[in-house]
Amino acid sequence: MMKIAVLPGDGIGTEIVAQAVKVMEALRSDGLKIELEYGHIGGAGYDAAGDPLPAATEKLAQQSDAVLLGAVGGYQYDTLPRPMRPEQGLLRIRKGLNLFANLRPALVYPELVDASSLKPELVSGLDIMILRELTGDIYFGQPRGIRTLENGERQGFDTMHYSESEIRRVAHVGFRIAMKREKRLCSVDKANVLDTSMFWREIVTEVGKEYSEVELSHMYVDNAAMQLVRAPKQFDVILTGNIFGDILSDEASMLTGSIGMLPSASLDANNKGLYEPCHGSAPDIAGQDIANPLATILSVAMMMRHTFAREEVAQRIETAVRRVLQQGLRTGDIYQAGMQKVGCNAMGDAVVKSL
Ligand code: IPM
Ligand code: MG
Repeated sequence: MMKIAVLPGDGIGTEIVAQAVKVMEALRSDGLKIELEYGHIGGAGYDAAGDPLPAATEKLAQQSDAVLLGAVGGYQYDTLPRPMRPEQGLLRIRKGLNLFANLRPALVYPELVDASSLKPELVSGLDIMILRELTGDIYFGQPRGIRTLENGERQGFDTMHYSESEIRRVAHVGFRIAMKREKRLCSVDKANVLDTSMFWREIVTEVGKEYSEVELSHMYVDNAAMQLVRAPKQFDVILTGNIFGDILSDEASMLTGSIGMLPSASLDANNKGLYEPCHGSAPDIAGQDIANPLATILSVAMMMRHTFAREEVAQRIETAVRRVLQQGLRTGDIYQAGMQKVGCNAMGDAVVKSL
């Protein structure tokens, strides 16, 4: 039995997750043993239980094999004190489930080559895997806060750190992913300035000695940001820390045409995972049936691959998505003249039909 916790969250989260659920229900009627249970997270958690990660949701997630998440955040929550903000629900569930390995593939579908903001020849055939460490770094480092200095001036501060075991375990994941791909791993850091990065580079290099077949390179994050738009196809797997990975994965998403196409997986040491689209809750278009559900549907494919080791089911979903793109169906974010514009619901139905 596949026990899946479904956490739609806020904004377009409910609409896109509903489409992914349709896909899972179709798989279930084909004999896959899927059990779905719903929970609140983000603003929805705050509204339901006064907490962006209600205890019931955390328990549900702990007891499930995998979690499917929509998105969190909304204007009405922006003025809440920080611990009550929707993003905290996301950060806490990542940390609470120990989901340290965040996989964000940037894949350009041939049908969408022209939707990219880069020239077609730069991105056609692009297939990068960004592996972002997800439970450490300046995101979680203590101490942090806003303090008053002796001279009376106020100061905001955060702490960046990475322990050896945190770097080691994510580096191993990176090298293992590279082994299954083109065997090239680029570790991204800021070792020319930050001690944390100097240490990161030292440990990644050490781990790399266990993977002699993988070609390891290192790149400073500023250069990596530039190379991603100059010549993105030079990358196979990018391994990086939490904050750099946050930024570079948003950048990489635009190479593919739309952030609405990108799924993600966040895994613990035993491949238990949380799966979510890379994009946010897009409150400006929520409730209008125009959001792109494909990133969420593709997140279900990643779930089948990584948590349940059902590669054939993953490919069936991915092929279904490819087919609707080939048929010319497009949501607004990937729409081009001559194509057929469809809404969120219709896109979900089309994927189910082509399964
Ligand atoms: C992401 C998001 C989150 C992050 C926010 C919403 C906390 O930007 O998943 O990339 O910074 O990790
Ligand atoms: Mg981000």
